[in-house]
Amino acid sequence: ASLKAYNTFGVDVQAQHLIRIDEEIQFTQLFQNEIFKQKYFVLGGGSNVLFTKDFDGTILKINLKGIQHFIEGSNAYITAAAGEIWNDFVWYCIDHQFPGTENMALIPGTVGASPVQNIGAYGAELMDIFYSCRAFDTLEGMFVTFNREDCGFTYRDSIFKSVHKDRYIITSVTFKLYLQKAVNTTYGAIQSELDLRNIAQPTIKDVAEVVSHIRVEKLPDPSMIGNAGSFFKNPIIAVEEFQRIQSAYPNVVHYPINDKEEKLAAGWLIEQCGWKGKAIGEVAVWKNQALVITNLGNASGKEIFDVSSKIVNDVHQKFGITLEREVNIL
Ligand code: EPU
Repeated sequence: ASLKAYNTFGVDVQAQHLIRIDEEIQFTQLFQNEIFKQKYFVLGGGSNVLFTKDFDGTILKINLKGIQHFIEGSNAYITAAAGEIWNDFVWYCIDHQFPGTENMALIPGTVGASPVQNIGAYGAELMDIFYSCRAFDTLEGMFVTFNREDCGFTYRDSIFKSVHKDRYIITSVTFKLYLQKAVNTTYGAIQSELDLRNIAQPTIKDVAEVVSHIRVEKLPDPSMIGNAGSFFKNPIIAVEEFQRIQSAYPNVVHYPINDKEEKLAAGWLIEQCGWKGKAIGEVAVWKNQALVITNLGNASGKEIFDVSSKIVNDVHQKFGITLEREVNIL
């Protein structure tokens, strides 16, 4: 089966088998058939994966649907099935007046993928609103529940991406939102866009609309131009190393993390190396955001990967920093 329609890079590779998961019970059946002892990969929206070659195993396309909520005191608990589109979940919350997701409007992908790399944008992170998730343990063949503390969330990371990579398949996520929570407009671009619209007291809907607008302006629409959002993580480095870089490059864009660490804007590092807007064949670095690599048409996954390696090399040469890929490479 071709995976072209199942990855937002639009890379045309073949998978040996493609199975659509519409019901949780299928996992138990697949376990009995020993599918999890063979090669497999779980696909949500396909917005964080780069296939560099054909996949000689089974792709499990998660299609579990449904969103429910209940209110207890000053909290709303919302449970969304893994196959729900993340942005649909965000708008479910906004339509019900539940604050907390609005800064993460329009992030591509599914609810089930959201905890794996602790998605985040514009001053909010999934871990701020995550309550628990249900997952299938492919080793033991049973369903388990993880609370927030179990998941080991850090910047763009969790146990599902690190120590327990490939073991658990998330089937639903429960979020805990505070009904009284105030909107968060501290991220510069949000405030300036609100000012432009003369909105002094923004609602969560205003914030979601502004965030969506900023994303559309800055990031390529994967349905038009193949891409997977940020290709790399923003590197977190020791303060001493940061000071070394800052003395050579006083304009370096950075965010303090704590006493010991600083986070750098990878987009800035890449732009300084001359990559912004640059194309090699059908692979191009996005003109408005150097952290995004795009497929201009018929680039192969291998070609996209090779450009990413050139970027890693150039950034390393110039700044002595090794960028890590955020996208899963297969
Ligand atoms: N910058 C440049 N040149 C560029 C891009 C960025 O100099 O080409 C500098 C600018 O100074 C800019 C700063 O970097 O102000 C930060 O850029 P931006 O606000 O676009 O955020 P980012 O750090 O590059 C992160 C996330 C995005 C998320 C935005 C907004 C990561 C890896 N990426 O990008 O997430 O939308 O913040 O919160 O943390 C994604 O993960 O796929 C993604 C798009």
